[in-house]
Amino acid sequence: MEILGLQNKVHDEARQGEAFAPFLEDMNQYKKHFYIESYGCQMNFNDSEIVASILNKEGFGATRNVENADLIFLNTCSVREKAEQAVRKRLTEFKKLKVAKPGLLIGVLGCMAERLKAKFLEEEKLVDIVVGPDAYRSLPGLIEEAETGQKAVNVLLSREETYADISPIRLDSNGVTAFVSIMRGCNNMCSFCVVPFTRGRERSRDVNSIIAEATNMYERGFKEVTLLGQNVDSYYWIDETTNETVTFAMLLEKVALISTDLRVRFSTSHPKDITDEVIYTIAKYENICNYIHLPVQSGSTRVLQLMNRTYTREWYMAKVNRIKEIIPDCAISADIIAGFCTETEEDHQDTLNIMEFSQYDFSYMFFYSERPGTLAAKRYADDVPLATKKRRLAEIVALQNTLSAKSNQKDIGKTYQVLIEGNSKKSDEYWMGRNSQNKVIVFPKINNDFKKGDYALVKVNSCTQATLMGEIV
Ligand code: SAH
Ligand code: SF4
Ligand code: F3S
Repeated sequence: MEILGLQNKVHDEARQGEAFAPFLEDMNQYKKHFYIESYGCQMNFNDSEIVASILNKEGFGATRNVENADLIFLNTCSVREKAEQAVRKRLTEFKKLKVAKPGLLIGVLGCMAERLKAKFLEEEKLVDIVVGPDAYRSLPGLIEEAETGQKAVNVLLSREETYADISPIRLDSNGVTAFVSIMRGCNNMCSFCVVPFTRGRERSRDVNSIIAEATNMYERGFKEVTLLGQNVDSYYWIDETTNETVTFAMLLEKVALISTDLRVRFSTSHPKDITDEVIYTIAKYENICNYIHLPVQSGSTRVLQLMNRTYTREWYMAKVNRIKEIIPDCAISADIIAGFCTETEEDHQDTLNIMEFSQYDFSYMFFYSERPGTLAAKRYADDVPLATKKRRLAEIVALQNTLSAKSNQKDIGKTYQVLIEGNSKKSDEYWMGRNSQNKVIVFPKINNDFKKGDYALVKVNSCTQATLMGEIV
């Protein structure tokens, strides 16, 4: 493995559909350079690191400067219409570059490639290569094909591919925190969601390759790994050599045992699947972070049923209670969708109400965006007017802002162990890090006592809605 870039990046932004641009390295040894930009979830960002590794082995270097690229890749997201629009807009911006540089190849990777397949080539004439999430190993061959002037497509989904043997090249890494994919695909079929169609069947990655990758990260100085899957609680692996069956709780434990100095996070849990064993395992190990992302989507049992989430409002609330009972200082966050098909004012009130009940520390909030081919698109009319969706979303956001502020206020006076991720965005004289609860804490540097990747004990003195401010104790 190789670290090619050292730039801090708050990866949570990915969930908002923001792009990130890779780094520039002085790599005279490579005759061709690729530029890759990622959209969507953390898994997509991690996939870009796998793509970088595959291309690097074939003799391609990476560049942060799109003007220097011989190959431009967009790793795309289809989860909401806005995410797709962002990609199309970006593609039109590349048109100029392509005119100026004949031979420049443009490739679309990821979920939008999978959803639109060869249709992409008809819709977006300047695209040369279309590759779905399970077909990245074929990229070098596809590039060769495209270099001869043909259009190259591979959108085959796989039941086995986990890229287990590929060591991701960390793009835009802060050198402290990294993602490790533990599974791919999703079998859940939430009715609003395009992911099962773009990412295919759920499959777990070999436990040994996960432990090896996490151990290697730690040995290279990383201090935090986030285990990634669309539904981590259904992780399941039978180790052929030992005949051991590994559940997610057991995997968490194995990663936690690599070193007490290595923090472990994970995303995402499904409320129907998160077990007591997982919650107890988090409680047992100091280095497994006290933070659970538990997407609720809606607070109304009727809507949850239409969403095919397979839990009720009461089930969800019982899970929240269970978490707080076993891990009293556990932070909880959620994903929430406003204005799903048939949602009434009463359903919406149920959502606001379950937010109050759960006291989320933060949330990712969206209004419903119908995705072609999903169960909801086939079965239900997208009947909540856009203005209503937006108004309900604004109410949800306003409530979350209040809850976040309240949660931060409660932290004032408390002391936390903070993993330093780098300089604060606003000033080099301040460090930025996170506590176990995943909250960002900013504090002044004193006497160069600490460096990036160190743990510091920080007492919180004040806060804004999004950030805690403190000082080293
Ligand atoms: N696997 C994760 C989330 C995947 S997508 C999970 O099960 O929670 C991330 C979030 O995007 C979802 O939790 C949901 O809140 C939101 N989302 C998915 N499809 C959407 C749609 N069609 N419209 C609006 N938001 C959507
Ligand atoms: Fe989509 Fe549901 Fe799977 Fe999450 S669990 S990826 S929301 S289908
Ligand atoms: Fe988007 Fe695909 Fe992730 S649709 S959210 S990039 S799995």
